[in-house]
Amino acid sequence: MLTLPLADDAELRALEPWNAKEFVDHVTRVRGHLQPWISWAATVVDEESALDILQQYADRMAQDDGRLYGIWVDGKLAGGTVFRVWDNKDEVCEVGVWLDPAARGRGLITRAVTYMIDWAVCVRGMSRVEWHCSSRNERSIAAAQRLGMSRDGVLREASKLGDTRHDIQVWSVLAAEWRDRT
Ligand SMILES: CC(C)(COP(=O)(O)OP(=O)(O)OC[C@H]1O[C@@H](n2cnc3c(N)ncnc32)[C@H](O)[C@@H]1OP(=O)(O)O)[C@@H](O)C(=O)NCCC(=O)NCCS
Repeated sequence: MLTLPLADDAELRALEPWNAKEFVDHVTRVRGHLQPWISWAATVVDEESALDILQQYADRMAQDDGRLYGIWVDGKLAGGTVFRVWDNKDEVCEVGVWLDPAARGRGLITRAVTYMIDWAVCVRGMSRVEWHCSSRNERSIAAAQRLGMSRDGVLREASKLGDTRHDIQVWSVLAAEWRDRT
């Protein structure tokens, strides 16, 4: 139901409150790989905390605010994508991503986020799509570059994960740039 294909064995679809058990099982499997970069990797620890974040996004989606999607590979939840920010007034949104290491290196995130940016720009009239990541997060920086984004600048020590402060790079693509890409 309501899925987008990413590969023969992979698909993108909404990640919803009824997926709470599957979500916490997935986060438990990959927690160590996400924790350096993603704050909820430390707080989604049981079905209740998983439901909490999924319900927050369901509520935000109902208000045309944020949106959350999962990536399933061979029927197993393997990652996801999110509109962390969705600002209809300024026509700016921000995309976030994560993936099980076993599913990396296949272009699944590039394909999933391409669908998201197409929808944000061409259907919903967003003028600017942002991507925020730690300056240390080489794979995330590479993904932003692969999507044709430009680096706007760096928010010095703007984020704290565990005991580590991170410089946050802001990348973006503008609607005209997205439409004109070859
Ligand atoms: C960021 C993250 C999602 C990137 O995953 P990824 O698999 O590298 O991203 P993509 O799905 O776009 O795949 C790109 C890789 O697939 C390869 N690839 C294969 N076919 C491809 C295709 N058709 N299109 C694009 N890339 C393709 C690319 O060469 C690249 O591989 P390489 O890094 O070995 O050169 C992942 O590293 C991750 O989950 N990190 C931890 C969480 C995190 O940091 N999230 C972001 C917070 S800001």
